[in-house]
Amino acid sequence: MYIQLIENRRSVRSFKNTPITENHLATINQFLDELNQSVGPFGHSAEFTMIPVSNHINAEGEKIGTYGVIRNPAAYIVGMTKNTKVHLIDFGYTFEIFMLNLLDLGVGSCWLGGTFDRKMLSAKFEKNNSFIIPAITPIGYHDERPSIIEKTMRRFANSDHKLAFETLFFNQNFDNPLKKEAAGIYEIPLEMIRIGPSASNKQPWRMVVTADGFIHFFIKHTPNYNGRLKFDMQLLDIGIGMAHFKSAVDEIGIKGEWRIYEGLQIPINDPNIEYIMSWQTL
Ligand SMILES: Cc1cc2nc3c(=O)[nH]c(=O)nc-3n(C[C@H](O)[C@H](O)[C@H](O)COP(=O)(O)O)c2cc1C
Repeated sequence: MYIQLIENRRSVRSFKNTPITENHLATINQFLDELNQSVGPFGHSAEFTMIPVSNHINAEGEKIGTYGVIRNPAAYIVGMTKNTKVHLIDFGYTFEIFMLNLLDLGVGSCWLGGTFDRKMLSAKFEKNNSFIIPAITPIGYHDERPSIIEKTMRRFANSDHKLAFETLFFNQNFDNPLKKEAAGIYEIPLEMIRIGPSASNKQPWRMVVTADGFIHFFIKHTPNYNGRLKFDMQLLDIGIGMAHFKSAVDEIGIKGEWRIYEGLQIPINDPNIEYIMSWQTL
């Protein structure tokens, strides 16, 4: 199911002006419970809360601002976690699986790491300084009529331009781009990473497939991407990529596990590339 969902997914910023049905709400609450208990590859969970809104206003009369980017959301899901590398990756991982589950219900969403009023939500939810709100998502039924804001945001982030397979994935080391046709059983799992969402569509995933059954996951940091943010947003993208990859290997029936590969011998000649974790096929 996940492969098809990932293939059909896109960021949804324009919603129909209709509330979410009671049935769907009950299921979404169940997904939320699961989300709050689920962990990513590094074993951490995060905290997520739903805020129903009408006209962007919550039950307490407060406005959840999104700088005009989101139209007619039925609710927002706000997530909190610790500001460490592994917590942020796990946040990306678990939240993305949740969003794919929503899509299976016919409910759209859009990662928002930048265009929301973080100050207001932080004041409301962040318990202490080590907890941050890395991202939120609006939810609702996709209004598929073309909207100017949606088109503008997609053009702005160049959303429809996904990098080529051989730009992201490598064979043995970073000197050998991996062609799709040569990726064997990993073609679909890697393709699922490639078509995933990423902050400003920067697509920072870089993976090296080695002959001993490992896929080594790296991040290629976009220099100065985070600006004034106090956390590394692109770590969320890595978690999302890992979630897409894992969903696909599970569905295809490739068995394996996440591992930190001590003493990895892959030369890195780009200062922006950093090793994250490996998948070992067993
Ligand atoms: C971590 C993260 C943060 C994002 N933040 C925003 C945001 O603040 N505002 C926005 O409109 N889109 C945001 N996006 C959506 C991306 O722009 C979008 O995923 C990308 O352009 C690719 O488009 P697609 O998701 O439709 O494939 C974010 C995506 C991710 C993964």
